[in-house]
Amino acid sequence: MPSVLEKTIFEDPTLNVIHLLNSISSENPEAISLASGRPDDEQCDLSLIDKGLASYTRYAVDTEHSLATLLCQYGKTTGIINGIIAEHLQVDEGIKIYNPESIVVCMGFQEAATLTLLSIFEGSGVLLVPDPVFSGITGIAKLLRIKIVPVPEDTFLDPSALRKVAEDLESRGEKVKALYAISDFSNPTANSLSYEDRKAMLSLANEMNFFILEDNAYSYFRYEGDKIPLMKSIDSSRVFLLGSFAKSIFPGLRMGYVVAPENAGVISFSARLCKAKSLITVNTPALCQAIVGGLLIENNYSLKQLNQPRVLSYRQKRNYMIECLEREFPIKAGSGRSVTWNHPEGGFFINVQLPFTFEYFEMCECARNFKVIVFPTSLFSLTNQAVTQVRLSFSNATESEIKQAIGNLRAYIESRMQ
Ligand SMILES: Cc1ncc(COP(=O)(O)O)c(C=O)c1O
Repeated sequence: MPSVLEKTIFEDPTLNVIHLLNSISSENPEAISLASGRPDDEQCDLSLIDKGLASYTRYAVDTEHSLATLLCQYGKTTGIINGIIAEHLQVDEGIKIYNPESIVVCMGFQEAATLTLLSIFEGSGVLLVPDPVFSGITGIAKLLRIKIVPVPEDTFLDPSALRKVAEDLESRGEKVKALYAISDFSNPTANSLSYEDRKAMLSLANEMNFFILEDNAYSYFRYEGDKIPLMKSIDSSRVFLLGSFAKSIFPGLRMGYVVAPENAGVISFSARLCKAKSLITVNTPALCQAIVGGLLIENNYSLKQLNQPRVLSYRQKRNYMIECLEREFPIKAGSGRSVTWNHPEGGFFINVQLPFTFEYFEMCECARNFKVIVFPTSLFSLTNQAVTQVRLSFSNATESEIKQAIGNLRAYIESRMQ
């Protein structure tokens, strides 16, 4: 047992971020929260459960197993809806999957990431991540004792600068084994990779022999501009696609998947993923798989139509939040704006730049005294980057909450500027 004074991995702040996001609201029940990136409560639709199950029940009639066996027995480790997910990835993403068994159906992105890291990292090796970064990946990488090298986001998004980071590491004897990237509308900064960035990242991975862990959790939520192909659809051989149905169906299902690289001659990552899963969760709950599989079949394997009302509603919320920011923080003649923000083309977040440091202490002060909870972007950083930024989530707030919250944030900022 570690002594009382000894720090364990469980004291690492990265492991606390998701807990903090969930607990800050319950500690400040009267404050409006723009902290958590939950899908909209208004979009939770119980009828999807019945629809999905009914559709899967019809489909199962034509399979070799009875519905009772499929749903009630222990299931195949890789999953029971791999073929359906393969079809879905072809239809929505143009990804051709030759063997559906290269897909492992998982309990959300989080399990997909865990299995993937376990299958790639043994002993040494480095995981490159942008900084700030979604703590779901860094938290599990830390628990697995993987060496993480955070790369400031500006450098990460600049292909030649990123190449230099990887080359410098390798010249010091550190092997880059994988890189984690969110292609569209990242959490926390809402930035995306351009088509050129994606191509450059793939060439670097090929040249330097590492893998890309591609997270597409927010890809369906594009409010303007043209879709950019996922890296997995450009060159599958270096990419583990870590998929999640948390935002595109609903998070209560805890459903996701990983698609391993499929090229002959490379180690069988599917077999490794499968072995690891058989010892972690055995198999993903069949009932949840049936709902997802049924909904995909029901919607001709595409999630675009199902998400159309959500896209319209989130777009409206994003626009409204930007309107409120413009109203509360107007341009001042001569000095511009003291508070600025990005204008993401999609996703759940807007990143705001403040004229002062905003960290954990300030978040608590703002929640307690000004009744609005906004999350410091720096809490997602491993190197104390972005200390003057806050992540505002519009996904689960009503227009009246957004209006009130941005007004309260202005009052807090004014109090700090006096
Ligand atoms: C960047 C990112 N990836 C993935 C997910 C979804 O994870 P899961 O499927 O484990 O709920 C989230 C949810 O917050 C996220 O922000």
